[in-house]
Amino acid sequence: MIARLRTVVFPVAGLGTRFLPATKVVPKEMLPLMDRPLIQWAADEAVAAGADTLVFVVNRHKRAINDHFDLAFELEQRLEAGNKTELLKVVREILPQQVRPVFVLQSEARGLGHAVLCARPAVAEGSFGVILPDDFIVNREGPGALAQMAQVQAEMGGSVVAVEPVEWKDTGKYGIVAGAEVGARVSRIDSIVEKPRPDVAPSNLAVVGRYVLDTRIFDLLERTKPGAGGEIQLTDGIAALLAEQPVHAYRFDGVRYDCGTKFGYVHATLQLALDDPEIGAQVRRLMQEHRLADT
Ligand code: UTP
Repeated sequence: MIARLRTVVFPVAGLGTRFLPATKVVPKEMLPLMDRPLIQWAADEAVAAGADTLVFVVNRHKRAINDHFDLAFELEQRLEAGNKTELLKVVREILPQQVRPVFVLQSEARGLGHAVLCARPAVAEGSFGVILPDDFIVNREGPGALAQMAQVQAEMGGSVVAVEPVEWKDTGKYGIVAGAEVGARVSRIDSIVEKPRPDVAPSNLAVVGRYVLDTRIFDLLERTKPGAGGEIQLTDGIAALLAEQPVHAYRFDGVRYDCGTKFGYVHATLQLALDDPEIGAQVRRLMQEHRLADT
């Protein structure tokens, strides 16, 4: 059976402070990797996992995200008049026809858990996906990370969070899980903590920006009090969910680039450029020239 996730939520109402001044006017999710903004790579991954409803949790400064997924009437007319059929196709196919974007407002940045809760009215009962677009994940050989997780959920039930091992010194930057192995790449979580110091972290398995959650999480998030940093943490909602149903940690197949940091963003751009059929060879030559120049 091929599993699919009908609804995917994109919590994109954060302030994006680590990329200032670039993100003073342009939302972080609109920063491009090659020729498409981060939010579009994320939408493509959701559509590939079977989504037909994409819920964007935005704030009042993120108008550009609405505009990106809206019809660009004048642009389309001009491309049509100029016979630019290839470009017209690119613009028209930003979202396939059967996919519906929904925009929900988070009026105050009260944390990731609160942002997910804001999506509640747009999410149908059952399982739904969550993607944080600045965690960009590429799987060259097979299905995207969210599609892999939908499959795990269909086979094992409960909820699923994506994890990857990080260096122990970095546990304080992530939600960290501990649990027992129950299948290939899958363990059943028995504890989850937000940003533990390395000396108290239960493991070095870090939660990254992909989740398949049961809608039960909404009731639990409603009761979640502000935690680390005064924000309503998704991690705390998941900790409450653990008491009621299995939550699986899944070590996805693919490479994650943390595009919320300068290094991760440059690394992702470089990798995509090297893999690009049009400019890959040129970029490789450029890198070789630089290596010669530096030695
Ligand atoms: P981050 O912790 O990366 O924060 O949020 P940020 O605002 O995007 O970026 P920095 O750290 O200031 O540079 C993780 C995810 O949760 C969303 C963010 O948009 C991002 O996708 N988020 C966070 C919300 O939607 N609302 C919030 O209140 C907080």
